[in-house]
Amino acid sequence: MRAACVIGWPAKHSRSPKLHGYWIERYKIDGNYKYEEVRPEDFPAFLKNLEGHGYIGANITIPHKEMALKLSEPDARARAIGAANTLWLDKGRLRSTNTDVDGFIGALDAAAPGWDKRVASAVVLGAGGAGRAVVYGLVERGVKAIHVVNRTYEKAVAFRERFGPSVHPARWDDVPRLLAGAGLLVNSTSLGMKGQPALEIDPGPMKAGAVVADIVYVPLKTKLLAAAEKRGFKTSNGLDMLLHQAVRPFQLWFGVRPEVTAEQRDMLVADIPKD
Ligand code: ATR
Repeated sequence: MRAACVIGWPAKHSRSPKLHGYWIERYKIDGNYKYEEVRPEDFPAFLKNLEGHGYIGANITIPHKEMALKLSEPDARARAIGAANTLWLDKGRLRSTNTDVDGFIGALDAAAPGWDKRVASAVVLGAGGAGRAVVYGLVERGVKAIHVVNRTYEKAVAFRERFGPSVHPARWDDVPRLLAGAGLLVNSTSLGMKGQPALEIDPGPMKAGAVVADIVYVPLKTKLLAAAEKRGFKTSNGLDMLLHQAVRPFQLWFGVRPEVTAEQRDMLVADIPKD
């Protein structure tokens, strides 16, 4: 039997066991997916003996993603983002990647097929870890102008150094002007999440046919996404990204490229607090 797990501290609230468990059953895989709560000081030893713990691979979550990068052989994507969220053993080598890019891009492709042919200018709110995956994906898909808006402006400037000249650092005051010419808006900050301050952005000035994405999934329909829907824009939410980021790890570990299904999505939605 093949087994994988999510390693975090904490990890027991992770939705990954449910998500992968669904596919294990659907594709009748002789496999298992568990969670492992590992303290930061114990993480290197745990990884070194991943096979001994019974695993062929793992997802990595907070606070271990940067350390996982250091302790494995990362691909270009994980290196560019500076964090690894997926590990797999490949003939004794511990390799890693970052599938948050797949999650963001996969969800966007599903919500608005062909978006990349129409979007020349995008606005990304936030320049943290999630923002890095978003911007990497947009650069890879050839979006010509990517305006990165961040409270701490210097971090947006660092994005240009990291991801190249298609990235344009910007400030929150610039947002209404930038939105007027943009075909895509992405919130990669924690604003609008349950328990966090609200995100007060009106997508109204965006071009007809625009797409709005939010990494937040509690609540599932953020204020931003509700406003975007009202304007007739296509939307992509954080839960879709969570589902799509799991596709490649599952394929790497269990050899089947799984399909994200409505039934699986409903199963996760049932777990999200409604108020
Ligand atoms: P993650 O890995 O989830 O992206 P992170 O790296 O801590 O988390 O990044 C959080 C992002 O949300 C950052 O862009 C942060 O802005 P700063 O770089 O200025 O901290 C943004 N963010 C969080 N709280 C915010 C707030 N109250 N107002 C504006 N931006 C906020």
